[in-house]
Amino acid sequence: RSVAFIGSECHPFVKTGGLGDVMYALPRELVAQNCDVRVILPRYACIPQKYQDKMVYRGEFYMDLGKTGRNYYVGIMEYVCDGVVYDFIDNQEFFSAGNPYIGLVDDIPKYCYFSKAALAALNYLNWIPDIIHCHDWQAALVPVYLRTMFQDSPIGRAKTVLTIHNLRFQGIYNIPTLQYWTGLPDEVFNMGAMKQGYEDANMLKAGLAYADRITTVSNTYAQEIQTAEYGEKLEDHLRYHSYKLRGIVNGIDYGMWNPATDPALAVNYDITNVLDHKWENKLALQQELDLVQDQGKFVIGLISRLTNQKGLDLVNAIIPQVMDGNTQVVVLGTGDKEYEDTFRYYENAYKGMFSACIQYDESRAHRIYAGADALLVPSRFEPCGLTQLNAMHYGTLPIVRETGGLKDTVQPYNIFNGDGNGFTFDRYDAGLLLDAINRAKTEYFINRYHWDEVVQRDMAKDVSWENSARQYKDLYLELTPW
Ligand code: ADP
Ligand code: GLC
Repeated sequence: RSVAFIGSECHPFVKTGGLGDVMYALPRELVAQNCDVRVILPRYACIPQKYQDKMVYRGEFYMDLGKTGRNYYVGIMEYVCDGVVYDFIDNQEFFSAGNPYIGLVDDIPKYCYFSKAALAALNYLNWIPDIIHCHDWQAALVPVYLRTMFQDSPIGRAKTVLTIHNLRFQGIYNIPTLQYWTGLPDEVFNMGAMKQGYEDANMLKAGLAYADRITTVSNTYAQEIQTAEYGEKLEDHLRYHSYKLRGIVNGIDYGMWNPATDPALAVNYDITNVLDHKWENKLALQQELDLVQDQGKFVIGLISRLTNQKGLDLVNAIIPQVMDGNTQVVVLGTGDKEYEDTFRYYENAYKGMFSACIQYDESRAHRIYAGADALLVPSRFEPCGLTQLNAMHYGTLPIVRETGGLKDTVQPYNIFNGDGNGFTFDRYDAGLLLDAINRAKTEYFINRYHWDEVVQRDMAKDVSWENSARQYKDLYLELTPW
């Protein structure tokens, strides 16, 4: 099967969260399973120079866009790595900023352009895949353009899959603006597709209506988004389209995440010697972050975008109770200023025991996964979540809220028989989070034998992409059985 991935970020070129990891790992696994894959991305100016240098010019053309009355440049720059072909859409007018996302005023026209240019580029390259697999609102207009303006062109015969990585972001703007930038026919601007309320147009909503299949990144989230609590006002729309919706849980790339070979770590380890070596990574981490160096301390990590989604108000509410003299907390993340400042405050209040790294640092993230004993993911909602998977794979036990992919990937620890992968709580409540942390501490300090068993079980757990990529393949085959 041949598949074109279309999305707004992809490790190692540009990544702001889990979408970047998925756009990297899933195509690679599909190639390993004999698919032919191209990944189409914007050529952002912020892509590191070493990758810009490797891109090869594949061609250029001009394309009209909406009602702008202008023809826009579309350049195609190509880079091939480990069997995956990356095609970057080049246009300085849209992609010259220092960040991939700026704000809706700029991002709406940018991704209207990108989605249309991606389809036009496939026609231009004369590469007509069986499946076009688009991701999140930034690429949600692809199925809409395909079934309208591109239906009679060669690419019109491709089938589409649209994956929701995060329903909170939908690409909503006023109708005239989207009419202007897309030029899509009036039939698209009805309540069953793009229109939302009296004045708004919603790009994701339209994509969901026009896509042949919808997926999201865990089973539980696929159910949750059909309810008012998690549906972000699209629950009715999603229920209507539920016949074509399914959940496929994410994995992690075992090449990128492997404690036995990870060059970022102080000491490498695997499942056979984790109990002998993991603590050395803890000491190295404590030294790196100016924490009291003591392998006996219980170290809790938190690696996250610092936004409302991630349950940080719960964390902030209980820090004083967590800091008992035997516990250290390490936060790595950037985001809302209020959270950044609170964590900085705690770093100051608990010197040597609390570390607030307000930064984005890929290799430090690896060292925290390896050096911490537990990783906190108390999210308000979590479509899948990758940090708990990384943690488990590094022998670090997750403490998570039972929502979305967290619920599907972390089986609660059972104090009676020792089963499970981590510590969980259900309602969004600070007291319950504190409870879960205290249960973890009890096992760590008092039943270390049990704790160590879970460490090894988590490292042995299959969190790779193999199985999930196969499910995507099955889905592609369903759509193109010939
Ligand atoms: P989301 O996509 O909602 O941000 P995920 O758990 O799916 O959440 O993915 C987050 C990814 O980003 C993980 O690979 C995690 O290690 C990484 N990450 C998040 N914050 C940072 C940071 N400050 N520094 C380095 N990596 C980070
Ligand atoms: C989103 C979600 C996260 C998921 C990631 C990759 O950013 O917030 O839960 O793991 O996408 O699918």
